[in-house]
Formats: sequence, C-alpha cells, structure tokens
Amino acid sequence: MHLNIAVLRGDGIGPEVIEQSLKCLRSVEETFGHSFTFNKAFVGATALKEKGNPLPDETLEICKSSDAILFGALGAPEYDQNPDAKIWPEQGLLKLRKELELFANIRPVKIFPTLLKQSPLPKTTVQNTDLVIYRELSGGIYYGEKKRDEDHSATDICTYTEKEISRIAHLAFKAAKGRRKKLTLVDKANVLETSRLWRSVVTTISQSYPEVSLDCMFVDNAAVQMILDPKQFDVILTDNMFGDILSDQGSVIAGSIGLLPSASIGSEHAMFEPIHGSYPEAKDKNIANPVASILSVAMLLEHFKMKEESNAVVAAVLKSFSKKIVTPDIMGSSKYGTDYVGDFIADNIMELDGSFSINDENIGLGKSTII
Ligand code: IPM
Ligand code: MG
Repeated sequence: MHLNIAVLRGDGIGPEVIEQSLKCLRSVEETFGHSFTFNKAFVGATALKEKGNPLPDETLEICKSSDAILFGALGAPEYDQNPDAKIWPEQGLLKLRKELELFANIRPVKIFPTLLKQSPLPKTTVQNTDLVIYRELSGGIYYGEKKRDEDHSATDICTYTEKEISRIAHLAFKAAKGRRKKLTLVDKANVLETSRLWRSVVTTISQSYPEVSLDCMFVDNAAVQMILDPKQFDVILTDNMFGDILSDQGSVIAGSIGLLPSASIGSEHAMFEPIHGSYPEAKDKNIANPVASILSVAMLLEHFKMKEESNAVVAAVLKSFSKKIVTPDIMGSSKYGTDYVGDFIADNIMELDGSFSINDENIGLGKSTII
C-alpha cells in the first residue's frame, strides 16, 4: 500500500517523539513491503515563529491532500503565560480539526499488564482496564462564539446540533457493538441544555443498537467512577470539553500520559496524535516517552486495515515494556532515552519472529489491537 502522510511535528517534545514514529513507519515499510511518503509541515508555536500563523495555508493544504496526518504536540510556555495574546499555538490545532472536520477523537485507555505497578492507583483497581473514550472533537464550547469585554467579562458559547451528536454517537455505538457492548454517555444533563440534547439524541439512537446497553452518567460522578472503578467502563461517549478532561484523567490509570495514543477521524480525513502536550520542560533532553506517538502509528495502520502491521508495532512496544527498555516516566531508574526506546521498538518490528510470546501481554491482539 502507498500512503501520503503529512507529518506535523509541532513544538516541545513533538519533533523527538515523531522521529521515533517515523523510524517505526520505515520499519513497517521495509518489513511489509509498503511505501509511505512523508510530507513535513509547520504547526503551532514553531509555525507562529516561522510563518506568523499557527496553521499556515501550506500546512493545511498538505494535510488536505494527504491520506493521513501524524501529529506531534503543540504549545509553548510563553503563550500559556500571556492570557492577553491575540494569537496562540493551540488555535492552529483547533483550526486544523475544524477544517478537516475531524469530529471523532478516539482515545483508548488500556492497562498493559507489565506496567501495572506504574499506576498510582491500586493494582486491583486498574488491572484489566480496557476502555475507550469517544470524544466529540469539532464542536461544543471549543468552537462557540468567544467574547472578551475589556477585562470585565468574557463569554464562551457551547452549541451542539443534533447532527453533530448523532454522527459521533453512531461511531461510538458501533465500537461498543464490537467490544463489550456497553456505552456510557457522560454529560451534565442536570445543568446544561446541550447535555440534555445529547441525552435525548443518544437515547433515541440507542434503539438502533439493541445489543448495546446505554448508561448515562453526570461528568462529576464519571470523574470519580473512572478512578474508583475504571473497569466498569467500555465505551465512553462525551462532548469536546468533558472528553478532553476525562482522557487526561485516563492517563493516570495507565500510569503515564506518555503512553496514550489517539485517532481523530472525520469522513474524509484522519489524524493520529498522542494525547499528551508539548512538555517543553523535557524538550531536547531525550527523556520524552515516544510510546504514545508510536501507538498512534499503530492506530493509523489499523485505520488503513493494516492489521498485521499494526499488531507488529504493538507487539514491539510490548516487548520494550517486558525488557524494561522504557523512558524514565515509566521506571524512574531507567537510563534509556527517547531515541534508544524508539530504535528498540523500530528494530523489533522487523525482527518479531515468534520467539517473543505476546499472549498474556496483549489483551487485544488478533481482535482489535488498540481500540
Ligand atoms: C488535547 C489537547 C488540546 C485540546 C489542546 C492542545 C488544544 O489538550 O488534544 O487533548 O484541548 O483538545
Ligand atoms: Mg487535552
């Protein structure tokens, strides 16, 4: 298969983790006889500095004409500390999601048995957690009208249409159907009108999926339940803002935010990115965990029905865990750097010869690798 992949490395640790993902994609090319063309483009603070725009027109064009986008991370402290700035890096990512209509952000939270001890939560609580968050990504409060009246008041409007809710709801129900058949809608329907619409639309749609049980939960309770008993969840469906918050919380269950990948899907485009941010403190220190980005590559391959290839990437990641070839966020005592871990995983995509047993390691191999 040939794929044109736009590579948006972004800011902070973005370029370092993307470099490891590209090594893995090159391994996949070689091992499985595919050909990938990488088109690099600027985004975020780097683009703002180079081109005066966090999403330059040429970047958008490259993304639109590619089969998939591999995204690193964005954000820089100088903008976070300036709430009066008129333009900032994150606007580039938001515009990209909107322009490409990437309405469904899929964020799996899966516990890797070898890393069970990494979670700050009790082993018995997190063991066997396997949930996936379907976060609406191109609507809601992120995109409603925004106003600032001098410094006396500010407004962010949250709007959802039935269409926006139903297209992601169908995807989430279909995912639940192929999994443990449970869908939890997370909202704040006791307060917000948008949440009341979500509840009504999703409840109606659930009638078309009789094999999936639907359960509705207020977001404040869901935040507690995710920590107390994450195993109760299968598919979580939620809006843009709640999904942003709950997916970071999910990373605590997994043990490190450096482990969680994501896919952002629209009807014509697809983008793959770690859920973590640009972690500027770690930039160029060779300590960033490349696994979230590499598992995003596995999601990309799975998206294009390259199941065996995706499994090979996941298996190589699992091998790095079992051999303790991990960055310091996973094992504080680890001396391995971002590039060493990336090399190990990329080399093992090529060398997986069946000698490494993945049976008890990978919950999903052979069924669905990531989701
Ligand atoms: C994420 C990030 C983004 C978001 C930021 C960088 C705008 O936190 O992808 O979760 O809020 O969507
Ligand atoms: Mg976030």
